[in-house]
Amino acid sequence: MTVIVRESTTTEVRRRLVELACLAPSVHNTQPWSWRLEGDRVLLYADRTRALPVEDPRGRNLVLSCGTAVHHLRVAARALGLDARVELMPDGDERDLLASIELRPGFRSPTPSDDLTVLRARCTDRRRFTLWPVPAAELEALAEEARSWDCTAIPILDLSTRFRVELLTLRAQASRSTDAAATSEQRAWVGRGGYDGIPREVLPERGSTSHLARFATEPSPENPTVVESGDGVIVLGGPADGPIDWLRTGEGLSALWLRATRAGMSVVPLSLPIEVEASRTELQHVVVQDAFVPHLLVRIGWQAIGRSELPRTPRRPVAEVLKP
Ligand SMILES: Cc1cc2nc3c(=O)[nH]c(=O)nc-3n(C[C@H](O)[C@H](O)[C@H](O)COP(=O)(O)O)c2cc1C
Repeated sequence: MTVIVRESTTTEVRRRLVELACLAPSVHNTQPWSWRLEGDRVLLYADRTRALPVEDPRGRNLVLSCGTAVHHLRVAARALGLDARVELMPDGDERDLLASIELRPGFRSPTPSDDLTVLRARCTDRRRFTLWPVPAAELEALAEEARSWDCTAIPILDLSTRFRVELLTLRAQASRSTDAAATSEQRAWVGRGGYDGIPREVLPERGSTSHLARFATEPSPENPTVVESGDGVIVLGGPADGPIDWLRTGEGLSALWLRATRAGMSVVPLSLPIEVEASRTELQHVVVQDAFVPHLLVRIGWQAIGRSELPRTPRRPVAEVLKP
């Protein structure tokens, strides 16, 4: 049975939706968004004061992060019985208004409390995955979930392509480690305290993370440098490399991640191979053979049963991100 719920979109409800949307992942937990309420609509703006000019000069990761927040808001709205009509880039490509979201009474999700629990449970767990392979069918289902949000998502299933992706990821890390400006920009977002950035407590100890992870320390003997386990890898992207494509990839990333969280899988984005031009070019021309433009890689795997829960990364208070 489907029930239409007459829930008025009071300011309080919309504030709550924004708060839930802000649980979304963002590059370095920069939370590069700013929200406004206008009538029955919620407007999402890019907050360029939180940009990463060295690592992300075009704002690809910034806009992609905002796309994850749009999808989180859609999920939250459905859980509250609201229909969210989203228009991406309503003022065109040049503007910082990324989305206009109109809220109307609508169909409530059949699993509202599960949906809200999953929004809260999703996190970036960079600890090394177990050796249990993620079956190809699971990877394909996750990619399909992302594709349903108009982004391209391709699982890397054959070993030689995976091997190539690992190598180009390692080369991206090596090249980044000699870039003092980028390294110091990244460092500025780790262990800042307060409401943003990545707390040290969520970063794994040396040797307990994959050598592919961005915040890993140097590869060590426990971190072999070639195909090491059953980690799944999915490439996300789109037909072009502009803001609307990045927003769609962000929505796809959020959808894939929430589905993986429900199924007990862990997702870790890898943006470094896209940020570094040489590896981005190789990924586009050689790995996906120019079928689309890659925007992000994600690693997918299983954490050990019974492993401790990670603390949550902080979020800025809604009063700071929601302008009257
Ligand atoms: C566009 C984007 C790029 C990201 N790139 C990386 C990355 O390269 N390495 C990494 O470990 N985490 C990456 N992350 C994960 C963020 O650091 C993480 O979402 C943020 O710190 C908030 O933590 P949470 O996901 O646990 O809520 C990325 C997230 C997004 C949305």
